[in-house]
Amino acid sequence: MDFSLSEEQLMIRDAARDFARTELLPGVIERDNHQKFPTEQVKKMGELGFLGMMVDPKYGGGGMDTVSYVLVMEELSKIDASCSVIVSVNNSLVCYGLQAYGNEEQKQKYLTKLATGEKLGAFCLSEPEAGSDATSQRTTAIDQGDHYILNGTKNWITNGGTADYYLVIAQTDKEKKHKGINAFIVEKGWGGFEIGPKEDKLGIRGSDTHSLIFNDVKVPKENRIGEDGFGFTFAMKTLSGGRIGIAAQALGIAAGAYDLAREYSKVRKAFGTEICNHQAIAFKLADMHTSIEAARHLVMKAAWDKDQGNNYDMSGAMAKLYASQVAMDVTVEAVQVHGGNGYVKEYHVERLMRDAKITQIYEGTSEIQKIVISRGLLRD
Ligand code: CAA
Repeated sequence: MDFSLSEEQLMIRDAARDFARTELLPGVIERDNHQKFPTEQVKKMGELGFLGMMVDPKYGGGGMDTVSYVLVMEELSKIDASCSVIVSVNNSLVCYGLQAYGNEEQKQKYLTKLATGEKLGAFCLSEPEAGSDATSQRTTAIDQGDHYILNGTKNWITNGGTADYYLVIAQTDKEKKHKGINAFIVEKGWGGFEIGPKEDKLGIRGSDTHSLIFNDVKVPKENRIGEDGFGFTFAMKTLSGGRIGIAAQALGIAAGAYDLAREYSKVRKAFGTEICNHQAIAFKLADMHTSIEAARHLVMKAAWDKDQGNNYDMSGAMAKLYASQVAMDVTVEAVQVHGGNGYVKEYHVERLMRDAKITQIYEGTSEIQKIVISRGLLRD
């Protein structure tokens, strides 16, 4: 079995590592403190091709594989998970959704701009009463012949205030349950579309999370994605790939915290020696590294499945379930290795610990991943 990365994959990983250290690290604490969106950094990530990595070059994307994408996600997340979630949503949910299921006009009009970073996307599924239970959409889109009228509220939307294009999931026929759901492309600025207040979050505070309000928004029929009733399948298929990106984010958060803990343990002295010379610390490092390596194997396997054209519903869910638990465990331990300094912002590990928690919640909680995995196991 070949575990090696190609020259191209190593190059893109190193470019992301370099970018994260030089461009993301300097302002990361300030952005976290003030919930400041990384506008400049997102612009640069667009120029580097990080916002449409897997999109076909004919639509302005990088034409890269999923393995390259998760390598970039890991490197960005080691330093700044607020930036990496922006990358993840734009790549895995918005660009992928349009590339895989949009028609040619939609790709020309929207995907080309999203893939280059000229415009930013958001994916709008969750509602006050439909986060995990995605079939229970309350947002409605009523068919009016050549257009739909959209009404409802979406919650916890990443890039909610900063996006230009929104993929919105809505119920078009309640009687048909999940087969009466559709997905639409909605543009910022359309009449009746309001951005709600920004959420004040525990972690990923540089990312921009809002509720969205749709009040009689007129959506042209040509902005529906796929055949009538395709919206739920669209959301599920898109989220399956999104979970690989979030798994890679969790892996990066864990790896970033581990790197900091290891370095700190080599310089901090207690009881007459560097603390890494005490087994109490060395064994922690061994456990952290082992669990990170196990998470990395699951993440890479899921990415490889996607690249091979294999089904990745289960492998993506397993990668997210496990890597997000590792992110929590490792970041808590990294704070512990740092002692009192771990509780102080300038050492970065407390932020990584706060950032880790969301990876167990968004794009399906850990409990949702277990539903996906167990249903996959018991299907036959
Ligand atoms: N691919 C294709 N079809 C799928 C599918 C998939 N991965 N998963 C389910 N379906 C189909 C099923 O086959 C079924 O179709 P049929 O009836 O035709 O057979 C249909 O969808 C309904 O499936 P279920 O009966 O399994 O549906 P359910 O109501 O039991 O829910 C669930 C399944 C897995 C729990 C799903 O609701 C789910 O994934 N929920 C979590 C949603 C989620 O991740 N929300 C996070 C919000 S997005 C976000 O966080 C973005 C962000 O900003 C970062």
